[in-house]
Amino acid sequence: MDSGDSLQQEVFLCQLSDLEEMQSIELTIDERRLFAIRKDNQLHAYWNICPHLGIPLNWMPDKFLDLDGSLIQCSSHGALFEIDTGNCIAGPCSGDRLKPVQLRNEGDSYYLTVNQSLPAAPINLRAQALADLEDS
Ligand code: FES
Repeated sequence: MDSGDSLQQEVFLCQLSDLEEMQSIELTIDERRLFAIRKDNQLHAYWNICPHLGIPLNWMPDKFLDLDGSLIQCSSHGALFEIDTGNCIAGPCSGDRLKPVQLRNEGDSYYLTVNQSLPAAPINLRAQALADLEDS
């Protein structure tokens, strides 16, 4: 899934104190979406790509958890992932895992580490369809 691209510069994500326990934050970098969840006073960050179909996990902004708030849940077909590991423990991609985002913290501030590989940029099907219409 990797495109060969890597993050060229460190990017600020958030301060841990910006989030309540079990609260999430989303960010988009070079068209790639990612999210982070605060759990046990740590941030766990993943690229927002479900291993089942390669689409984003959430339909609602910053909403990634299941009803009891203990697991990450994909909105499309309900796959469940452990927050700490990103491992899928139930659903159509069981046994697969979310791709982690590498973070570095400086006190309360968290950054995406430079030089980490980026997932492939998503294909914008709508834009592609409109371009195809204009060409025809
Ligand atoms: S796309 Fe996530 S479970 Fe199907």
